[in-house]
Amino acid sequence: MTVSFATAPPLSASRVMAVMEESQDDIFIIDRRNIVEYMNPPAYRALGFSAAPVGRPLRNCFSSSAWPEIEQDINHARRAQRPVYRERSIPFAQRERWMGAWLTPIDDDNGERTSVMGIARDITQRHELAQLLAEQHNLFEALITASPIGILLLNGASDWMCELSNPVARQMAGATWIDGAGLDDAWPALAQAVTPILAAACRSDGSSTADVDVSSRHFSVTAVRLRLPGRPGNRVLLLVTDVTDRRALEQQLLHADKMDAIGRLAGGIAHDFNNLLTPILGYTDLVSSTLAADDARRRDLEEVATAARSATALTRQLLTFSRKQVTKPSAIDLNDVIRSLHGIVRRTIGEDISVIMDLSPTLHRTVADRNQIEQVVMNLCVNARDAMPLGGTLTISTANTALTHASCGMLGSVPPGEYATLTVSDSGTGMPPEVQAHIFEPFFTTKGPGKGTGLGLSIVHGIVKQAGGCISLTTAQGRGTSFAMYFPRTDADVAVSRDEAARPVPRANGGETVLVVEDNEGLRRLAERLLRNGGYRTIAAQNAGEALELARSFSGKIDLLLSDVVMPDVDGVTLANQLTRQRPTMRVLFMSGYTGADVARHTVLPHHAALLQKPFTRDSLLCALRTVLDAAPREGAANS
Ligand SMILES: Nc1ncnc2c1ncn2[C@@H]1O[C@H](COP(=O)(O)OP(=O)(O)OP(=O)(O)O)[C@@H](O)[C@H]1O
Ligand SMILES: [Mg+2]
Repeated sequence: MTVSFATAPPLSASRVMAVMEESQDDIFIIDRRNIVEYMNPPAYRALGFSAAPVGRPLRNCFSSSAWPEIEQDINHARRAQRPVYRERSIPFAQRERWMGAWLTPIDDDNGERTSVMGIARDITQRHELAQLLAEQHNLFEALITASPIGILLLNGASDWMCELSNPVARQMAGATWIDGAGLDDAWPALAQAVTPILAAACRSDGSSTADVDVSSRHFSVTAVRLRLPGRPGNRVLLLVTDVTDRRALEQQLLHADKMDAIGRLAGGIAHDFNNLLTPILGYTDLVSSTLAADDARRRDLEEVATAARSATALTRQLLTFSRKQVTKPSAIDLNDVIRSLHGIVRRTIGEDISVIMDLSPTLHRTVADRNQIEQVVMNLCVNARDAMPLGGTLTISTANTALTHASCGMLGSVPPGEYATLTVSDSGTGMPPEVQAHIFEPFFTTKGPGKGTGLGLSIVHGIVKQAGGCISLTTAQGRGTSFAMYFPRTDADVAVSRDEAARPVPRANGGETVLVVEDNEGLRRLAERLLRNGGYRTIAAQNAGEALELARSFSGKIDLLLSDVVMPDVDGVTLANQLTRQRPTMRVLFMSGYTGADVARHTVLPHHAALLQKPFTRDSLLCALRTVLDAAPREGAANS
């Protein structure tokens, strides 16, 4: 079908002129030399003229900096012989404005298409809006890109299409691109886990949060119902935080707290128990020494003493676990300790198990209590033996390890640095996760009644912690177990170890005076009695103040101070320092005892201090006393 229109008569030139003059757009016409042929009022006013600059070059209407680009655009239109559109910022008389202009080649009077008509419009406002929008978009992009939280914008009631995601979310999902895909396809494991909270957020028209486990990681996920003005649809913003590391740390802290609480309890019991055992052992000794050698009651008393010594061993273990035991750390070479234990390890584990020792020849030294390290190695070896009932291989190795920030994060509580590592591995049964979770707790054992106390590893844990180290465990059921212990490196020289047990028990001798300072009255009286029995003179005080007073008024020589380490008010170490200043030749022997949880810092003795473990027996007391009294005097202070 053909539609025909009646041909309208052409507009008169005056009407065309009127249209141009009244137009709100800026209109101009220039000839082939860019001389202005026409310019309407809005245009010339904007350019700062009161009348059209007809006959003048257009370049004179603009600043010299703006003109070259305008000229370029005009020439472009002329060359192309078609209209071109350009947007430019142009400095006008009053202010800079963004202009959008159509430049259209038109015929000149000779019918040649060399003139150009320009129709320009102020687009400053639109331009500023676009710029603002772009800035906001960039800001938005930057924010969601920088966010450490995974962000997903989901749309749809059932298939939850990802409209938008940030890099963290894509990384968590293990996908490079998920925008436009359904959550089911993009991140199937998460999709399943979050269905309930997506539904809950929609139902409540608010937000819903849950912790979900996805592909062995823990996520905290929040779904927020989103209403976007002008954009229909059912949208939910999903915020996903990976809390795996935080969870692990929480577990560690919880575990540490629990161990600490158990430690305090165990330490408290052990202390009181120790104070009861000391008189039991002491008075047994005393009574025994008054009986004739063939008196049958001696054997009965020996039974009492044996039982008390077993109890002593148990309390010592508890004190070690609770880290309340007074230790004498010194620089040691772990290799030395291990080598010295080779024989006893061999005998302990039996013939079905082969022992491999792989010791680093350049091992860092570390600061620890040698006896305690022996205890660590023995406990681990015994456990390894029990885990290999059908035989296997026990490997004890040492190595130097430099822990970085990253590796420390995995190990928990030690700072980065150089460590000497001691590893005890076996090819035994290994442990399932439910056993691994509890092995460091005291009294946790999987061994039958009477077979294990469950104290072994809790003691190992306590000792390693006390030495400033940490333990890592690698095990899997049926695949053996490996305990790696990291001890901080020291550059101090290894002290020459003295074999205390090899020395004969000295009998009491000569009339020396001992100042006994002990706040427990029973213990103080016992110590005095044992000492007097052993031929010493004693003076006694129940605290540091009293001891200082006594020492001041005592005119004779005090040969030795026998003091408890931790006492109310002033501790034994401080007292010893004060007294040896007044009496430089006086020797010092500390007795170790329980420390309250808050005075644990007192438990590290000066490097050269002599120490008598409680509960003590007559022999151990007299033996320690002689050792200290007979030692060559040290320079400076006595033996503090
Ligand atoms: N090398 C190992 N292989 C497999 N399981 C182990 C190993 N070491 C420890 N365990 C597990 O850890 C538990 C706790 O060990 P721990 O040394 O604290 O106590 P125990 O050996 O049972 O008793 P105790 O050492 O007091 O005689 C053990 O009962 C055992 O289940
Ligand atoms: Mg054990």
